[in-house]
Amino acid sequence: MKNTSFNFIHRPRRLRKNENIRALVRETSITVDDLIQPIFIQYGKKEKSEIPSMPGIYRYSTDSVLSYAESLLKAGITRVILFGIPDKKDAVGSDAISGNGIIQKSISAIKKNFPEMYVISDVCMCEYTDHGHCGILDKGDVQNDQTLEYLQKQSVSHANSGVDMVAPSAMMDGMVAAIRNILDKKGFEQIPIMSYSVKYASAFYGPFRDAADSTPESGDRKRYQMDPANYREAMKEMELDVAVGADIVMVKPALSYLDIIKSVKESCDLPVAAYNVSGEYAMIKAAEEKRWIDGKKARDEMLLSIKRAGADVIVSYFAYEWAISQ
Ligand code: PBG
Repeated sequence: MKNTSFNFIHRPRRLRKNENIRALVRETSITVDDLIQPIFIQYGKKEKSEIPSMPGIYRYSTDSVLSYAESLLKAGITRVILFGIPDKKDAVGSDAISGNGIIQKSISAIKKNFPEMYVISDVCMCEYTDHGHCGILDKGDVQNDQTLEYLQKQSVSHANSGVDMVAPSAMMDGMVAAIRNILDKKGFEQIPIMSYSVKYASAFYGPFRDAADSTPESGDRKRYQMDPANYREAMKEMELDVAVGADIVMVKPALSYLDIIKSVKESCDLPVAAYNVSGEYAMIKAAEEKRWIDGKKARDEMLLSIKRAGADVIVSYFAYEWAISQ
């Protein structure tokens, strides 16, 4: 019934009448071209083990990852980011820089079998060190400049294995400059750097650390990852990376940092990535398991919110699942 006692002409509901008109005026949508699927890789043969806190996400061995890569390609997911879990960890994360390391082997296996797959590698020490910190530890603190040398070696070995892009995530000062410098020196000036520029010390990495066995043995990462309370510092970190040639800047995590994604997008001309991290995945899966939410709808809403905030690229454990549900 029409209410004539009010004088208004604007009725936003007109454009919500049915799915047809809603689709016409929809401002944001997700496509497979927005998404990067993270993959965990471990040693072994024909291995595929589910990560308990991340239902639907597995650790693959270098052979079993190939059939997964094939399924991803079939689903239209043509970009992956790789995380390696070595058999042996040590103080300096030797596997990370070995030509025969878990990641180096995986990169070359995937690129050899599926050249069309765009392979990105995470460049960081935490999955490879026995103490679980992101760099070289001395007197209880991660040594910044010494770690840079390791990150350089790691990047070059990934490049030698045929990686398409490197993604440093260690939150060491100067890491993008150090990596750009060495890659250029070694003839890899065409390999882009997607920097985890704005990475917070977050509780939402919990399930990832289960998956990669990378929980720090002592202390936490607050001496290198950012304080969740800080916005201005995020802008500073982003600007530092832009100045030294990062190709893509990333904000991580995504969901609790949508304001940061939006500001980074508005303040720089580079593509902006957001990492929809393990805890954000696990929360939805856990609530879905309890039948407390509709997991699929919550997933879609979450991805949409990250894109709407300004992310051009979304790294998400939901990538494959999203693609096959379309
Ligand atoms: C560090 C790295 C981490 C993640 C991506 N790269 C873990 C950390 O900083 O503790 C977390 C990703 C996630 O939670 O999904 N190499």
